[in-house]
Amino acid sequence: KKTIQVAIDGPASAGKSTVAKILAKELGYIYCDTGAMYRALTYQAIKNNIEVTDEKQLVHLLKEMIISFEPNKGNQKVFINGEEVTDAIRLTDVTNAVSAVSAHGEVRKELVKRQQEIAAHGGVVMDGRDIGTAVLPTAEVKIFLIASVEERAERRYKENLSKGILTSLEVLKQEIADRDYKDSHREVSPLTQAQDAVRLDTTSLTIEQVVEKIRELIQIK
Ligand code: C5P
Repeated sequence: KKTIQVAIDGPASAGKSTVAKILAKELGYIYCDTGAMYRALTYQAIKNNIEVTDEKQLVHLLKEMIISFEPNKGNQKVFINGEEVTDAIRLTDVTNAVSAVSAHGEVRKELVKRQQEIAAHGGVVMDGRDIGTAVLPTAEVKIFLIASVEERAERRYKENLSKGILTSLEVLKQEIADRDYKDSHREVSPLTQAQDAVRLDTTSLTIEQVVEKIRELIQIK
């Protein structure tokens, strides 16, 4: 059986990880959530009182970190040096600081290297911002997932509600827009669609419809 690399990029909360997990499970591939790696470093930096602007200290901290994943039903657990941080890396303080951490070239260099090692043997679905452009430029299938900011904020709002967390839709919208702006305007590997990526607007599509479209693209490879 041929195993390929599937790269899924796009702005915040476009549904990348949801569809990536479903596809990886179906194909028996590895799922790699690269955003979780940037979040893990951000979490550790906050915990150690390291400024998000201090590239040197961030890289030093990162080199001491083993970031690992463990499958957990449809989801994935995340660990830093054996300590579980699955939920902690999704908290607002981490979310709002992660774009500053991920803007540093040396931070990206180290994490991209780790991501390329994970994907080296194929059979991987990887999601992030620069997978098709920088991490896996020769990936057989590249997807650029987008949705309107309103739709993305609403999805996140409902997801939070289902976890019993009440958030303001307006605040969510602003946070998503801010993060997209920072991720698209940084100097090193900004969020941008790879030339050979297939653009999918998921605004009026269900998860299953998005998965089916990507499945078709994988099948013809
Ligand atoms: O995918 P997620 O929203 O969890 O990513 C969190 C943040 O990590 C992004 O907003 C971005 O700043 C950074 N990131 C990145 N490159 C990737 C994946 C994530 O810069 N490949």
